[in-house]
Amino acid sequence: MNRRDFLKTTGISLAALAAMCMGCGSSSATSGQTSATTVNEGSKQVMDTNNGKKILIAYYSYSGNTKALAEEIHRQAGGDLIPIVPETPYSETYDVTVARAKQEQQSNARPAIKTAIPNMEQYDMVFLGYPNWWGSYPMLIATFAEKFNLEGKKIAPFFTHGGGGEQRCASDLRRLLPKSDIQESLCLSGNSARSAQGEVSTWLKKLGM
Ligand SMILES: Cc1cc2nc3c(=O)[nH]c(=O)nc-3n(C[C@H](O)[C@H](O)[C@H](O)COP(=O)(O)O)c2cc1C
Repeated sequence: MNRRDFLKTTGISLAALAAMCMGCGSSSATSGQTSATTVNEGSKQVMDTNNGKKILIAYYSYSGNTKALAEEIHRQAGGDLIPIVPETPYSETYDVTVARAKQEQQSNARPAIKTAIPNMEQYDMVFLGYPNWWGSYPMLIATFAEKFNLEGKKIAPFFTHGGGGEQRCASDLRRLLPKSDIQESLCLSGNSARSAQGEVSTWLKKLGM
């Protein structure tokens, strides 16, 4: 499937296509997941507190937009920044990844992840970020949610999208984590993820950070 077909299938406009591609640069994935050679490569484990809260920022990013947003949240809020890394990397060929993501969503798959969180209990607040894939979370977010105990924790979700907006990114996460305390989310288009200082600051204030 090419990008035009993807949009036709999903009903996203050509303007959205442009937005979707912006920030990706090319069909190549440039996120940490492709270059990761060890568990938690790219993580920044700077223990920090924010109003006494211990913070984890965990994110998946295929082409770098959500990663940029996660880094800005980390810059402003501190805490531990940990990328979620798939065991089997997503193809650098965009169409192949689009097809795999669709198949994984349709089969309710749980793609394995390499990510280790040594001590999830220590965190009071977990920022959880991902791109909008087919209207929802990439299925490895479900793997993450089931691998680590997030019950009772405050979860602050953040997403980037390619023109479709939030769609089911937040509502599906609420269904996935019914026993977590899901906070107001931050949703930005991928092409504004690298200049989101103001949006992040406003959102963090709303979260009481
Ligand atoms: C497999 C796949 C599916 C996508 N599905 C959607 C979608 O349904 N709606 C949308 O707005 N953008 C969609 N996008 C675009 C991404 O959400 C957008 O480019 C995002 O900013 C990418 O973040 P990342 O650079 O952190 O991977 C999709 C991208 C990929 C690769």
